[in-house]
Amino acid sequence: MKITVIGTGYVGLVSGVCFANIGHKVVCVDKSFEKISILSKGEVPIYEPDLKEVLQKVLRDDKISFTNNLKDAIAESDAIFIAVGTPQGEDGSADLSYVLSAAKEIAEFSNCQKLIITKSTVPAGTGSKIKELLKKINPNVNFLIASNPEFLREGCAVNDFMNPDRIVIGCEDEESKKILGKIYEYFDLERIFYTDIITAELIKYASNSFLATKIAFINEIADLCESTGANIKHLSKALGKDSRIGEKFLNPGPGFGGSCFPKDILSILNIAKENKVELSLISSVINSNQNRYQKMVGKILRALDFKHNNKTIGLLGLSFKANTDDIRYSPAIKIAKELATKNVVVKAHDFEAIENSKYELKDFDNIKFYHDVYQAIENVDLIVIATEWNKYIEIDFSRIKQLTKCRKIVDLRNIFDEKYVKDNGFEYVFIGSKESKDSNIQSNLQKV
Ligand code: UGA
Repeated sequence: MKITVIGTGYVGLVSGVCFANIGHKVVCVDKSFEKISILSKGEVPIYEPDLKEVLQKVLRDDKISFTNNLKDAIAESDAIFIAVGTPQGEDGSADLSYVLSAAKEIAEFSNCQKLIITKSTVPAGTGSKIKELLKKINPNVNFLIASNPEFLREGCAVNDFMNPDRIVIGCEDEESKKILGKIYEYFDLERIFYTDIITAELIKYASNSFLATKIAFINEIADLCESTGANIKHLSKALGKDSRIGEKFLNPGPGFGGSCFPKDILSILNIAKENKVELSLISSVINSNQNRYQKMVGKILRALDFKHNNKTIGLLGLSFKANTDDIRYSPAIKIAKELATKNVVVKAHDFEAIENSKYELKDFDNIKFYHDVYQAIENVDLIVIATEWNKYIEIDFSRIKQLTKCRKIVDLRNIFDEKYVKDNGFEYVFIGSKESKDSNIQSNLQKV
């Protein structure tokens, strides 16, 4: 089938490339000339495992092209996916201006029936808004509308697209269902879930909110483990063995970040407010996550025995999670900023996110950046793991011992085995590890 994808951000680019990979003829449209030029050459402007390889393959197979010209792109397409950004508006609601402006342009340039599908995360009711807009601008064309929210995760987006748990399709007429069925015929039928448009739109928000709730829950239970001495790793494993709960998204950490959960959870709250529905649970999740990074800073300062003025820490990880260069709402970045304002010298390392972080943290003279993990650790007073890059697990402890006198690791992602770290001669503080009840430390805690 001939498909147009509008927007070459994470969702648009991965979807476009993967649609081409399953055999469709795809045109990706973006307003940025620079992006189109980079992508046309087979280069990818973001770090996303496998994406570059698949892009280069579909370019060679002549299955994909990139353009700034929306009019030409939609002329012959069977389906047009809108995958532009829906940033957070000032009141927390999703800003639909890019989505509506894409719809407006489609209406202006169309002269025969078109199926328009939203892939962007949009509030419930957006499908109807788009339909109205299209009709108003171009009443002569029959526009079909559908919703097909995306569930891919940054860092494993290509794999998620090619191996989906489910494909949600919201549509309200047989023609749209037929076209979308054809677009997704590569996948097992039982993976495809048809529903109406408004439900599809809300499924996306409900999924992200549920996952965010799961994380906030396990983070709070980890706090309880810290006080009681219970073992968070065992607890979370046993919890996940219950098939009604499931093992995934039960890793405690410095709080959820990224471009989706923090934004979508506020947006669903806004949708609820507009519909005069109270989502008190979701409000609590936001509260629970909001100041979690400060708790992490407290943990780091306690590990430094509160003598933190001009102390140096090696901060390993800056991206909001592993396998991405994305630092949007990254807890690691918030922690770096907070420590820097408390006169801690931060030697920061990441495998992919240094360039993005340099810009974000440019105002802090006491944050230095290192591409080499051992240089970031040299002569530090404390090592902190802030992002769960797998390669940190392979760190050579004997080499660390040669580079620094520091024998303490604060692991905000629980990537290490406790015994392994201790056997290597390091004190190990992790999320859920029992906190000292020392009265001196407790009284100092009040001062932070
Ligand atoms: C999330 C969803 O998982 C995707 O299904 C969805 O398509 C995407 O948002 C979106 O709406 O576009 P993503 O933001 O890429 O994907 O990242 P996740 O892997 O979900 O992680 C989100 C945050 O939760 C990260 O900060 C991560 O470190 C944290 N997390 C995740 C935990 O703290 N513990 C866990 O057990 C899992």
